[in-house]
Amino acid sequence: MNNIKPYFFLVSFLLSGLLSSCQVKLNTVNAKNDFSYRADSVLSLMTLKEKIGQLNQYSIGSEMTGPNQTNEYSKQRYEQLIKGDVGSVLNLTGAENTYLVQKQVMENSRLKIPLMFAYDVIHGFRTMFPIPLAESCSWDLELMEKTAKIAAAEASASGLHWTFAPMVDVSRDARWGRVMEGAGEDPFLGSRIAEARINGFQGKSLDDVSTIAACAKHFAGYGFVESGKDYNSVNVGNNTLMNMVLPPFEAAAACNVATFMNAFNDIDGVPATASNFLVREILKDQWEFEGLVVSDWGSISEMINHRYSKNLNQAALHAIDAGCDIDMESQAYIKHLEELVKENPYLESLIDDAAKRVLLLKFKLGLFDDPYGYSNEQRESELVGKEEHLDLAEEAALKSIVLLKNENEVLPLDKKLKLAVIGPLAADNDSPLGNWRATAISNSAISLLEGMENEFGKSQVTYAKGCELSIGNNNFFEELVINKTDTTGFAEAISVAETNDVVIMALGEPAYMSGEGRSRSQIGLPGVQLQLLKEIYNVNKNIVLVLMNGRPMTLSWENDYIPVILEAWHLGSKAGSAIAKTISGKSNPSGKLTMSFPKNVGQLPIYYNKKNTGRPSAAGNQVFYSHHTDVDNDPLFPFGFGLSYTKFNYSDFKISKNEMKLSDTITVSVKVQNVGDFSGDEIVQMYVSDEFASISPPVLSLKGFDRVSLNPNESKLIEFYITKEQLGFYKFNEKVYEPGTFKIGVGPNSSELKFLSFELLN
Ligand code: NOJ
Repeated sequence: MNNIKPYFFLVSFLLSGLLSSCQVKLNTVNAKNDFSYRADSVLSLMTLKEKIGQLNQYSIGSEMTGPNQTNEYSKQRYEQLIKGDVGSVLNLTGAENTYLVQKQVMENSRLKIPLMFAYDVIHGFRTMFPIPLAESCSWDLELMEKTAKIAAAEASASGLHWTFAPMVDVSRDARWGRVMEGAGEDPFLGSRIAEARINGFQGKSLDDVSTIAACAKHFAGYGFVESGKDYNSVNVGNNTLMNMVLPPFEAAAACNVATFMNAFNDIDGVPATASNFLVREILKDQWEFEGLVVSDWGSISEMINHRYSKNLNQAALHAIDAGCDIDMESQAYIKHLEELVKENPYLESLIDDAAKRVLLLKFKLGLFDDPYGYSNEQRESELVGKEEHLDLAEEAALKSIVLLKNENEVLPLDKKLKLAVIGPLAADNDSPLGNWRATAISNSAISLLEGMENEFGKSQVTYAKGCELSIGNNNFFEELVINKTDTTGFAEAISVAETNDVVIMALGEPAYMSGEGRSRSQIGLPGVQLQLLKEIYNVNKNIVLVLMNGRPMTLSWENDYIPVILEAWHLGSKAGSAIAKTISGKSNPSGKLTMSFPKNVGQLPIYYNKKNTGRPSAAGNQVFYSHHTDVDNDPLFPFGFGLSYTKFNYSDFKISKNEMKLSDTITVSVKVQNVGDFSGDEIVQMYVSDEFASISPPVLSLKGFDRVSLNPNESKLIEFYITKEQLGFYKFNEKVYEPGTFKIGVGPNSSELKFLSFELLN
């Protein structure tokens, strides 16, 4: 995703200056701040073709974030651009590039409607923050708002107006490569994180040039693709859709996210891009969403492959009819909507509505006032990759690390120990940047080895790679080839392990093993890494396993034998420093998992907010209950789990009432005390369990959490408030609040809770 340049022919075209600029001017509109009035005014000047042009979007950077198009197609795109037949583009970055392209549109198109520049700014623009799944493990909403804000500041200074983030897809299946891009398996936490990220990207006002429009994606169900296989079909019932999939989207709409993106998948037989139910009924009518909906890359034309639309013409009809406003990369609207209007005159008002949504966003972004406002080279040079942003990257990395195991309190390590740093990811400066790395400079992350040398001193550390992880291709587009046979590096690594006190093993997945198109059927350590780990274990059992990966993994052998496991994900620009500072104890780990780790792949999908089923447990020695015969029902590491170097004690758990009316609030309180020797942060969690409901309820639902910092011996009283909002659920499309018994569970993770109960009255 580096080396951003416009297409070669595009540059030559821009420089040729052959185009004459059209003289038609927009009406001056007086009601300066009335965007709707101004958008209507512009709309009234537009031909049908020009309105459709606003709905047309394609990629023009040298970078593609979807299947490649042909050169033929590139030429056609450029012609569309200067005719005003394009409303927004993606994948072009840089103040100068965006300025040049905007200039062509402003000088050549009849109505001079500025373009919007969009890009996938997912976990940073140049400064890389932890991948979103990692960052979600901080449960630190303020932090996530800040990292999104800095990503927006860098991106906007590079000419961008719009990011395709946050991805708010709830997912329960770690095989799906895109779990790295989300906030895990829980809709409540996912909703809060969605709000934080949207607020961070969008700030208080979109016309502030340091903010960008956000996009809640992928609407909807994409996180539930069957067998975790990307782009696959989704089959969820209404209950799961309404109560698990949609809440983060509803939260996003309620906090005024500017845009939504359709999902690639079909859901119960209807491609999401053609779903009237999702987009028109729920999003635009029920939630009164006034922003715009963009298709995913080619998701309109792909409805032909779904065998849902007969041809591109019908795909365009299906999509516009269902409320998809912008066509990303299908060229279906620009090619077919005009003729479709002739056959179906009602479509014109849908096109007006869609075009108005695009214009409104352009007004809100301030583009009609200054089309070049974001393309400011001075701001770009000051802000993009600014040194100080790295401090936030380190804070985010530190808070994203999850300590999964620390037998005999091996960590933190004494600085006098002699350390072997081994593994294919140990000296890797690139993998920590993660998959959706925007314009990060390749190999710019601090590696674990560098971090360890800085923190412990070079003389304390000896490095051996041990094995290669991937061979050949290592980029955003192509299939990664994993080394499954070459063990020639083992001997050196074994001898380094033998001669040192402790071995730090850096194993996991390279950056391009998770993310879009990167589903896996096995989610253990890829290649020969487990073999290497076992051989090292044979000579030195003092191993700290540092995992760098983009998804939960199966780690049963590792958990059985390795004393310390530190989940370090892909932590971004400052990965190595953050991990080393955690290993040395300069920082006390505080992250907690937002996705369950399975014991094996057969357990997937596995998630804490499961149903009880009709046969939840065994009667004696019988087999007739819901289970697998070869593995128990628990995950290896549950949702909400993470250790610290200190210990927290929970006491004085109380609820303010045993009965609650719908209009009441119950206060839940618990005292949390740091009873260990280190200062640390604890993420206190509160869950609700509905005993009975007219739709079988989840056994537990997270409904509150608090991150609290405590010095040794210090204690704090944590309070949560229960209102009917946390007790209701969607029954079909309506939120209902059913009286009955509820249990409140409080504790450090979803499997270590203490419960109290109360009655919700009629
Ligand atoms: C396809 C991905 O699904 C989507 O999330 C992304 O925003 C677009 N490509 C644009 O790059």
